[in-house]
Amino acid sequence: MTDPSNDPAPFYRAHVFFCVNEREGGHPRSCCLAKDSQELRDYMKAKAKEMGLKRIRINSAGCLDRCEQGPSMVIYPEGVWYTCKSKQDVDEVLEAHIRDGGRVERLMMDAPSKK
Ligand code: FES
Repeated sequence: MTDPSNDPAPFYRAHVFFCVNEREGGHPRSCCLAKDSQELRDYMKAKAKEMGLKRIRINSAGCLDRCEQGPSMVIYPEGVWYTCKSKQDVDEVLEAHIRDGGRVERLMMDAPSKK
């Protein structure tokens, strides 16, 4: 077995997976696309570029299985999950989490205060 301490450094400093999954209307779990996730993901990608953030990636993702809490997004390598419902929410995650290395507790799905 290879020693995991020899792993290379992460290629991206922050790798975002933003769910843009679509389901047919009336599905009991709904979907993130019905909550404007495509527009929000595209906004996040453009805004990150505008902010000049380096070594980050904002990927579209299929269903992340947290549909009821969507629009769903997860940021690696930390594995922190957020619900972003507006451009203001996206701005806050970009600035506080990705740029400054903090957390936006009010948007975190698993925030310590929600346990
Ligand atoms: S549809 Fe987005 S998490 Fe399932």
